[in-house]
Amino acid sequence: MYYDYYAGGAEDQYTLKENVEAFHRINILPRVLVDVSKIDISTSILGYRTSAPLMIAPTGGHKLAHPEGEVATARAAAACDTIMAVSFSSSRPLEEVASSCNAIRFFQLYVYKRRDITALLVRRAERSGFKAVILTADTPRLGRREADIKNKMIAPPVRNFDGLISTDVVTDKGSKLAAYASAMLDASVCWKDITWLKSITNLPILIKGVLTPEDAIKALEVGVSGIIVSNHGARQLDYSPATISVLEEVVEAVQGKIPVLLDGGVRRGTDIFKALALGAQAVMIGRPVLFGLAAKGEYGVKRVINMLKEELELSMALAGTCTVKDITRGHVRTQHDRLLCKI
Ligand code: FNR
Repeated sequence: MYYDYYAGGAEDQYTLKENVEAFHRINILPRVLVDVSKIDISTSILGYRTSAPLMIAPTGGHKLAHPEGEVATARAAAACDTIMAVSFSSSRPLEEVASSCNAIRFFQLYVYKRRDITALLVRRAERSGFKAVILTADTPRLGRREADIKNKMIAPPVRNFDGLISTDVVTDKGSKLAAYASAMLDASVCWKDITWLKSITNLPILIKGVLTPEDAIKALEVGVSGIIVSNHGARQLDYSPATISVLEEVVEAVQGKIPVLLDGGVRRGTDIFKALALGAQAVMIGRPVLFGLAAKGEYGVKRVINMLKEELELSMALAGTCTVKDITRGHVRTQHDRLLCKI
C-alpha cells in the first residue's frame, strides 16, 4: 500500500510516464576541447548557497518509508549541503525536523479550510528558522490515485496537527487519504489569497504547480519570489504536460525576474543538465529521495543525492561546461527544435 502511494500517479498515469520520457526526447549538445579539469556544480537558490542545483521536494509521510521519517531526510540534506522542502503533511513535527540538523529548509504549505491552522503552521515554520514558504497551488482537491483507492490507503498521521485537528477519517470507501484531503483542503483558494499569505509572513513565497506562461505572469503580478514548474509528480491532473516540456515557455514569460525551479521525473544528472539548459535555476527531487529513504534511511537519501550530483558533474565535464552558468540553451536540442529544423 505504501509503495503504491509513493510510486503511483493519477488515473491512467500518462503524465507519470511522460514526466520521465519527455527528458529522454531531449539531446545534449556537447562542446569539445574545453578545459574541464575543474568542475563546480554549486549554485544559489533564493540567495542561499547550495552544493548543487537540486533540492529535496516536499513529500508527505516519510515515516511510511523509514521510522526516523523526515529527520533522516533532513540530516541527509544537511550532510550533502542541499536544501530540503518539508511538507505540510510531514510525519514529524516541523520543530523536530528543524532541530535535528542545520540544513536550509523551506516549508511547503497547503491552505486548509481552517485558515487559522495554515497561518499557525506558517508562524511555527518562521520561528523554527525555515527560509521560505512554498505554496502548492495544484491541489484544490486530491487527484484520483487509483492504487490508493483500491488499497483504501490510510492517511499517514500528520504530526504537525497534534493537538490542533484530528487526522483520523471515517470512511469505509476507497482512499482514506483522499477522504481526509477533501474534508480539509480549501478548494476556494485563488490568486487574491496570495495577498493574505503575504500579510501573515515575511518569508519569500514560491508557487508550486505552475505549468503555463499565463499563470507564470499572474505569479509575477502578485509578487511571489519564485515559481516551481510542477505537476505534483503526476499525482493531480492526469494528461497535464510533462514539466520539462513546458519549462521553457514559463521561463520566457518570467523574463528572469524571479527564479524558476522544476520538479517531476528528474532521475539522472543529465536530466538536471537539461532542466538548467532550458532555464531552471534548480530542480527538486521527489520519489528517488523517498526510495533512498526506504532502502537505507539517512544513508540512502545521501546516496541518492550524491549519485545525482556525481552524474551532473560528469555530464557537465563531458558537455564542456565548467559551472552551472556555462550551461546554455545551445547545449540542448528539444523535439520542438528538431521540428523547426525540418521546416
Ligand atoms: C508528493 N508531492 C507533494 N507535493 C507537495 O507540495 N506536498 C506534499 O505533501 C507532497 N506529497 C507527496 C508525496 C509523495 C509520495 C510524492 C511522490 C509526491 C509532490 C512532490 O513535491 C513533487 O512535486 C514530485 O514528487 C516530483 O516528482 P518526482 O521527482 O517524484 O517524479
